[in-house]
Amino acid sequence: MSDQLTIALTKGRILKETLPLLASAGIAPVEDVHSSRKLVFDTTHPGVRLVIIRGSDVPTYVRHGAADMGVVGKDILLEHGAEGLYEPLDLGIARCRLMTAGRVGWCSNGARIRVATKFVNITRRHFARQGVHADVIKLYGAMELAPLMNLADLIVDIVDTGNTLRANGMEPLEEIAAISSRLIVNKAAMRSRCAIIQGVIGDLAAAVGRG
Ligand code: PRP
Repeated sequence: MSDQLTIALTKGRILKETLPLLASAGIAPVEDVHSSRKLVFDTTHPGVRLVIIRGSDVPTYVRHGAADMGVVGKDILLEHGAEGLYEPLDLGIARCRLMTAGRVGWCSNGARIRVATKFVNITRRHFARQGVHADVIKLYGAMELAPLMNLADLIVDIVDTGNTLRANGMEPLEEIAAISSRLIVNKAAMRSRCAIIQGVIGDLAAAVGRG
């Protein structure tokens, strides 16, 4: 195990918005993470390194202690669970909404509905709470296609600008959850590396105006 504190970051838009926050905590990767094929990066803080992985893998690395901390969307935490993790800080970045959506004018006829999503656990819980029978169809991307191809009646997906829905003749229906990126921490690391972790949490909290 490395003596360095390891922070797992989510690739893509969350990464772009996380790097300036980390920089204000004195943690900047020593090379360009966007052009490199590397997955592990040393930083300007000698005690801290970064790993850059898929969002759905971030809680797994942190839960098992392979990373001490991570930055991940709340959607991932709701879908995969947050057991074994502390969630000390809402970073307020990569804000969006998790919503149901359907073709414009779609109306339930009261029969079972088919819902396509990659968020199968969230979707099952949402419709179960409403007492609605929903057949959940797991997809890995391009959810908006499913109603157009009559694979599903509804989708559950992330909505940001709403442009993707509009471009495909769909409209947002119900909000399931407001989403933003969260800082997560391994519970054992929080005890054994308390000083450095609390330092990073404090710096990030100050950077997002919650310090
Ligand atoms: C998300 C989501 C929608 C789109 C919504 O996909 O799945 O397709 O963004 O954004 P909008 O409301 O601004 O149009 P993303 O681009 O993150 O890729 P993904 O399918 O890999 O999650």
